[in-house]
Amino acid sequence: MSKNNIVWHDQHITKKDRAKLIRQKPCILWFTGLSGSGKSTIANALEGLLYNNGNFTYLLDGDNVRHGLNRDLGFDNSSRVENIRRVGEVAKLFVDSGQIILTAFISPFQSDRRLVKELVEDKEFIEIFVDTPLEICEQRDPKGLYKKARAGEIKDFTGIDSPYEAPTQADIHIQNDNISVEKACEQIIDYMIKHGYIKRRED
Ligand code: ADX
Repeated sequence: MSKNNIVWHDQHITKKDRAKLIRQKPCILWFTGLSGSGKSTIANALEGLLYNNGNFTYLLDGDNVRHGLNRDLGFDNSSRVENIRRVGEVAKLFVDSGQIILTAFISPFQSDRRLVKELVEDKEFIEIFVDTPLEICEQRDPKGLYKKARAGEIKDFTGIDSPYEAPTQADIHIQNDNISVEKACEQIIDYMIKHGYIKRRED
């Protein structure tokens, strides 16, 4: 108690309070899929749509995070586990801040994705499987990495000499071999509206 009889009250602004202020239900939109499957492309386009809808979002992308926070990690199994563990913890903080966080990481192991799901509350983790066959990712090869992996210049490359465990019960399954980015985004937006994460903005 201070000399003016003023008692300090801890003001605990909760996740719920913050979410109410920005009128959205915070969640992690967890994109998983092979390199070149289209995770980042879809996540980027989706973030633009959510922004235009008045939602507060942030996108964490594997290639970018590996330049900063996770630049000490490689691609052996234990590095990938640590990569996803850290991203999961960061994503959890964003959810606590009331935001919708989009993450685009190969995240090849089921157990790691499950761990992230268990870090947050029920329904706060939405697994989005960007399901593009390896042959198509390899044909696209946007960064020329599959070519290098086949030539033995990169080792532990996902789909070539490192495993990818496809989700068996993804919340959203995007068959991305003959679908446009717009259609993929629509599928996710429809899910988010149907399950009460966002409301469509009425102008
Ligand atoms: S994860 O497996 O640990 O989730 P992450 O999504 O962060 O991977 O990084 C994948 C990106 O790193 C790929 O899109 C690709 O550009 C690049 N990369 C470099 N080496 C590898 C490799 N050995 N396997 C997979 N991706 C690699």
